[in-house]
Amino acid sequence: MKGAAILRVLAFAALGYFFLNYIGSTGETSVFEAQPWLWAFLGVVLLFYVAGEICIETLRSILYRTLSPENKAAYDADLSLEKANRFKGLKNTYKKLLGSRPIEEEGTLVLDHDYDGIRELDNQLPPWWVYGFYATIIFAVVYLVRYEVFDGENQHEEYLAAVAQAAIDLEEYKKTAKDLVDFDTVELLTDAADLQAGKAIFNANCIACHKASGAGGIGPNLTDEYWILGGGIKNVFKTISEGGRVGKGMVSWKTDLKPSEMAQAASYVLSLVGTNPEEPKKAEGEIWIDPDEKTETDTTANEVGFETLDKTTGDTLMTGVVNDSI
Ligand code: HEC
Repeated sequence: MKGAAILRVLAFAALGYFFLNYIGSTGETSVFEAQPWLWAFLGVVLLFYVAGEICIETLRSILYRTLSPENKAAYDADLSLEKANRFKGLKNTYKKLLGSRPIEEEGTLVLDHDYDGIRELDNQLPPWWVYGFYATIIFAVVYLVRYEVFDGENQHEEYLAAVAQAAIDLEEYKKTAKDLVDFDTVELLTDAADLQAGKAIFNANCIACHKASGAGGIGPNLTDEYWILGGGIKNVFKTISEGGRVGKGMVSWKTDLKPSEMAQAASYVLSLVGTNPEEPKKAEGEIWIDPDEKTETDTTANEVGFETLDKTTGDTLMTGVVNDSI
């Protein structure tokens, strides 16, 4: 009796909790988060419920004591009958699902062969097994018709569709997560807004060494075609993010600037190329030719121009064209 009472109390508590949540909650937040006093309310209601349970139980035991011995016996008999019948439906269903005959009836099932004392029972197959078997037959037919007769999507096509969808999702994600770029994935930004932001970043951090025009000072000229550390968006991004050669003065900016900001600054720097500012610093490094711009139809695409400059004087030491097609 006690176990059942505890179960009832727990069920009542759970019911109260879900009921209050159901009528009071807005959207994602539980009503108990918004109104913590409801816990106290629920607690008090629960207390009353427990008190009620105790009262009923006490009343029952008092009344039981007042019964005459015959009535007591009759009551006990009633109670045990009720207990035996409890969950009868469930028990019967369970037995039916199992399908096997009770052990007392085994004598009627036994087959007449006997192998060294090992005998065989002709029990029925459990219905859960039989219906499971029918389900596999139905599944097989549906599967056959759908994929073999009507040419449903096979695994390969499913895979391709999933990959295509993933590529779309990735693009979508990249748009919202601009700070995911690094020097491998960065692309030249051409939006006026991005370049404007890049200019602001450049003016705030870089002009002490590169001048507002990019003409160069302590740092090299950023407006010419010559690059010490490589041109193109990927190299310029990398220079800004990782810094230049040790001891030259160009520090790594990745702790100060977000990846999206470095991408904007790098794009702005590249927009300065060819602007011919006043008092330009002499070119340093080599002409940058983007290896990615090669195309099959362009016959000169495999030719890599080079021009080596004297690091101190800026004089041209050597120029030439190398054809690196195989
Ligand atoms: C303290 C001075 C200083 C500051 C500030 C500075 N740079 Fe530099 N920068 C340099 C020097 C010096 C180099 C050459 C590094 C080398 O030779 O390795 C350089 C190189 C570069 C290069 C590579 C140029 C090439 O020819 O390869 C880029 C691009 C660049 N800086 C961009 C920036 C940007 C953008 C900022 C601001 C976020 C910035 N720099 C801030 C001093 C500076």
